[in-house]
Amino acid sequence: MGALRIGIVGCGRIAGNHAHALQRVPGVEVVGCCDPDLDRARAFAAAHGIPHAAWSVDELLTFGLDACTVCTPHPVHEEVVLAAATAGVHVLCEKPIAVDVAAADRMIEAADRAGITFGVLFQRRFWPAARRIKAAIDDGTLGTPTLGEVSVILHRPSEYYSADAWRGRWDTDGGGVLMTQAVHQIDMLQWFLGEATQVSGFIRTHTHGEHIETEDSASAVVAFASGATATITATTGANHNLGNRVTVVGPTGAIASVLEFPEGREGVNEIWTVPGELALGSPYSPDVHANLDVADVNAGLTDFHTLQVQDFADAVLTGREPAVTGRDARASLAIVAGIYESSRTGRVVDLQAAPSFVTTEKAAL
Ligand SMILES: NC(=O)c1ccc[n+]([C@@H]2O[C@H](COP(=O)([O-])OP(=O)(O)OC[C@H]3O[C@@H](n4cnc5c(N)ncnc54)[C@H](O)[C@@H]3O)[C@@H](O)[C@H]2O)c1
Repeated sequence: MGALRIGIVGCGRIAGNHAHALQRVPGVEVVGCCDPDLDRARAFAAAHGIPHAAWSVDELLTFGLDACTVCTPHPVHEEVVLAAATAGVHVLCEKPIAVDVAAADRMIEAADRAGITFGVLFQRRFWPAARRIKAAIDDGTLGTPTLGEVSVILHRPSEYYSADAWRGRWDTDGGGVLMTQAVHQIDMLQWFLGEATQVSGFIRTHTHGEHIETEDSASAVVAFASGATATITATTGANHNLGNRVTVVGPTGAIASVLEFPEGREGVNEIWTVPGELALGSPYSPDVHANLDVADVNAGLTDFHTLQVQDFADAVLTGREPAVTGRDARASLAIVAGIYESSRTGRVVDLQAAPSFVTTEKAAL
């Protein structure tokens, strides 16, 4: 087989990571990109040496693609994945998979029916520190965790929300800090702890209410089929960015964490208390500039986009499952949607009953 011919759908901020990542992977050729803002698509194509620019997915698909990557706002993911599946084109979609679980199910079903490879981008799973925890869980060094903790304490200036009209609105963004930022750490949590069964939580808008209608802060509790429980704390309203941390406690009491600080930098095992392997450290210091621009955060993630693109290309070529499947990505979305539902209703949400995400009701929170 010749080079894998890949197109990029959506030419905004994160698309640059995709172009760089795809162009680093041997056996992959980026043949086109598209954006309804055709000038943006053309400028992106010129900047990255991509031969074709188009204004629609349908036009992009005429360039004879084997696969595409999806870098559009969240609610647009579904229509792109369905169009790709219908055309028999493999697809690697940015997180979150979608903004409601029913949409995720339609995407997974369409991909299954078409027999295409469908992956979802959660590149933080490729950090060696995250893989070390997963391996220690799987090989019994740590064992199946009994407790988990997600901490997403981020700074976003108000311009982050005011610059893009789609951000922070239920209909165009599908959620706030949980849907856009913390979904990465929620994905990692359920990768470590297994199937989540129940959630309970509260969402609030404390800091950015002038620009957004979705939540900028959330607290939640999750129960897992294993018997484990976990907490989630998330905000984009902090004045100092403390980054993202996922911590697990194993059945012997041993603790392992992966910390991303500053945001966008490779995660490290900040805490590791497996007997005989004790390591504790903190990167926090007043000398570290933590409130990075989002472009800088994204740039720091490119190496891990590259590893996931490499995994996806190999999955397409060998017919195996990609590292993060549509079903994996549905699991983190279900937790996020369940927290929204719990906050709206004041009840514990049973995730096996597939929480739906009804934007009009959520806007009334
Ligand atoms: N994995 C990560 O770390 C990471 C980081 C940032 C963003 N993301 C995800 O990437 C996606 C895009 O985010 P962004 O920050 O680049 O947004 P953005 O607003 O900068 O870019 C989105 C682009 O999609 C285009 N678009 C809209 N509808 C389209 C359509 N129907 N077809 C083609 N293009 C369309 C827009 O015109 C825009 O250029 C989101 O899902 C986001 O959550 C992931």
